[in-house]
Amino acid sequence: MSNAPDLLPSTAHFALGDAPVRFAPFAIGPVPIAKPLVLAPMSGVTDTAFRQMVQEASGGAVGLLVTEFVSIEGLTRQNLKSAMRLAFDPAREHPLAIQIFGGETARMVQAAQMAADAGAAIVDINCGCPAPKVVRRGGGAELMRNCDQLEAIVAEVAKAVSIPVTVKIRAGWDHSSINAVEVARRCEAAGARAVAVHGRTRTQMYTGRADWDLVAEVARTVQVPVIGSGDIASPDAALGVLARSPIRGVMIGRAAIMNPWIFGQIADVAAGRPARVVTPAERVRILRLYSDLQSERMPESVVPGRLKQVLARMTKGFSHGNLLRERAMRAQTTAEMFDWIEGFFAAIAQGDLEAWCLRARAAKSVQIQV
Ligand SMILES: Cc1cc2nc3c(=O)[nH]c(=O)nc-3n(C[C@H](O)[C@H](O)[C@H](O)COP(=O)(O)O)c2cc1C
Repeated sequence: MSNAPDLLPSTAHFALGDAPVRFAPFAIGPVPIAKPLVLAPMSGVTDTAFRQMVQEASGGAVGLLVTEFVSIEGLTRQNLKSAMRLAFDPAREHPLAIQIFGGETARMVQAAQMAADAGAAIVDINCGCPAPKVVRRGGGAELMRNCDQLEAIVAEVAKAVSIPVTVKIRAGWDHSSINAVEVARRCEAAGARAVAVHGRTRTQMYTGRADWDLVAEVARTVQVPVIGSGDIASPDAALGVLARSPIRGVMIGRAAIMNPWIFGQIADVAAGRPARVVTPAERVRILRLYSDLQSERMPESVVPGRLKQVLARMTKGFSHGNLLRERAMRAQTTAEMFDWIEGFFAAIAQGDLEAWCLRARAAKSVQIQV
């Protein structure tokens, strides 16, 4: 997982207030998107286990799932890590966009064909990744500075595959070269069927705030659906941007790690119901599901690490969550981690967290003496 900062669910500036709720299906080319909610691509996070976990937690409310970016270099050289990033369960992950990144037209075409062959409903081109190793090779956000090349890639990929091609862009390279509107227009002209916009520049990385005015301007300019991304962490914020901006969908990334139920909660509020309350037992069920899904495809030695990542974000802000994280981080096996996780959430359910803390601290001091 990158070192992107956590997102706090205090996004009052997006509040829905008394604006009318706009929560409608849309389509990307021929692909129907039942709900205007998209799980953002997140490298090192949104693998098949994570996507299935979020879709299950949210009761199927995610309208579109997107893979982590897949390197064209890796794909075309049949690298195992890249091949694994293509893995998905078509029964539980539909529709799925496979995101590819790179800067060379011919290899992007080849990678897009591989994504289509793997069963993707959509192929998405990454023009937002700020990582130096990606940008140096002409991919990711570098394409925002090289629009001719981006246009060529979109046009050639759109010609080569029968599934819709989309692009995910940033606001621009830096504050003096904001060009999302121009880039989106050129991508549309080259054949892109939707554009996702993260309203930050490459140099901002994840600092500051996403510029939703710019996202709205892009949506007013192009005819194809625009999906907005950046800092959405509550049903009110998601419905607020859907109500106030001509976007068709809202994309959620970091908040889905902390709260995989968020898409279901947004759908609840959109339907006029209170957002579903997540019980301690439900948290354990979803963490177990995630762990089981990881075990299905990853070596057992890798599973605790993945679980720790999600647990760390999911328990941020919980009273004594730091103690649980500390215990879980020290656990050697998945079973040992679940002893601590189950104990912690059972104690919350029983209103007896102090007793659990005593046990956790005692175990810690025994470990220190050893
Ligand atoms: C850990 C992490 C990994 C990311 N990886 C990708 C990626 O592979 N492709 C991409 O287009 N964007 C990637 N992003 C950007 C997100 O898709 C999203 O646009 C951004 O995080 C803003 O949304 P948020 O505030 O809801 O997280 C990543 C973000 C994070 C936090």
